[in-house]
Amino acid sequence: MSTSNEGGNPAVEPHLFRDVLGHFPTGVVVITAKDAEGDPVAMVVGSFTSVSLDPPLVAFLPQRTSSSYARMYGAADFCVNVLSENQIELSRRLASRDPNKFDGVAWRPSPAGNPILDGSVAWIDCTLTARHTAGDHDIVIGTVTALDTQEPAGPLLFFQGGYGRFDRSAAENAATQLSAQLQISDVTRPHLEALAAETGLETFTQSIIGGDLLIMTGVSATGRSVREHIGRRLPLRMPYGATFPAVDESLVAAWARANDSAHHPEAEAAERLERVRRRGWSIGLVAPNHDEHWATISQHGRDSGHAGVDVRIREALESIAGAYDPSDETLRSRLLNVRILAAPVCDANGAILESIVLFGFPAQAAPEQVQRWAQQLLATAEAVSQELIGFDIQAGAR
Ligand SMILES: Cc1cc2nc3c(=O)[nH]c(=O)nc-3n(C[C@H](O)[C@H](O)[C@H](O)COP(=O)(O)O)c2cc1C
Repeated sequence: MSTSNEGGNPAVEPHLFRDVLGHFPTGVVVITAKDAEGDPVAMVVGSFTSVSLDPPLVAFLPQRTSSSYARMYGAADFCVNVLSENQIELSRRLASRDPNKFDGVAWRPSPAGNPILDGSVAWIDCTLTARHTAGDHDIVIGTVTALDTQEPAGPLLFFQGGYGRFDRSAAENAATQLSAQLQISDVTRPHLEALAAETGLETFTQSIIGGDLLIMTGVSATGRSVREHIGRRLPLRMPYGATFPAVDESLVAAWARANDSAHHPEAEAAERLERVRRRGWSIGLVAPNHDEHWATISQHGRDSGHAGVDVRIREALESIAGAYDPSDETLRSRLLNVRILAAPVCDANGAILESIVLFGFPAQAAPEQVQRWAQQLLATAEAVSQELIGFDIQAGAR
């Protein structure tokens, strides 16, 4: 099926166009030039591309109504600055309509005399070679006259209206992490068997692989199969996997991250994590419609990325969040329907290696019973931590 918009056919709604095209990621460059007065002028552009090697041509597509483009329109040359992942603030500033947005920006002149911004990854000086009209934009083609790289940083990316970074090592790291985690799981498994026998419950381990929680190995004392859970990927996202950000500060921001920019969950996350740290373990109580939400959340890693699935997963996590790591008062005051208890296994330096999770609890447990389970779980996590200290794990465990 195709939709033609030739001749101004308004078949394509502007918001749909923006939404769908927003699924294509771009880098971010700043086009710099001198205006008619010789003052520096800058414009943030995602529509930059290399065009030809021989002759060396590049292009960008400015909107014709842009005031920054109007100011650089008469310039015979321009410079393309490839922004780094550390230049989000600069990009925001230079993308604003403030006529004085360039004031205070640090730069040096390129061979052609255009601003090379401090901290940009690379710069490309060009002479204006051709200008084509294309709808409400121009296609500006430049011949490259001088170019170089400067800052050895990763590039800034733009995707679906937000800034991001390129993680070159994600796949490599996942493989290294997996091999270390398999060794850790193998050491842990006999301890899970003892814990399951001791408590009469089910238990599994969770590790971080490629930024997700991965269920590695499990044992059941209840006759139920934990096998269906093995290999399951879950989002490392509040309220799940709280033991990881509780131990590793570098995980907190991503764990607490709100997709909805109007919502500020950092304070709530900090309170939860403080409780987990103080207790030494994390607890999830049964939330209303928990099984239904679990079914949605377990689509993570299988169907995530599909339109709507990520949104539903986020909503499901938000729906159950209130039942996780509640106040001491809640844990003291009534019979508890416990969903999970989790405790971290750490190395000699206190870095988290994995988390041991107990589940399959009977309903309406007395608070004292829950405390006993938590202590049995903690003792197991401690025993595994001790055993792993003497075990030579190959690099890659986080
Ligand atoms: C990541 C990003 C990419 C952009 N890409 C383009 C682009 O390719 N073409 C364009 O005309 N404007 C683009 N803009 C918008 C301009 O940078 C800028 O917001 C606009 O030109 C400001 O208005 P003014 O030029 O009228 O002052 C982009 C903005 C951002 C934040």
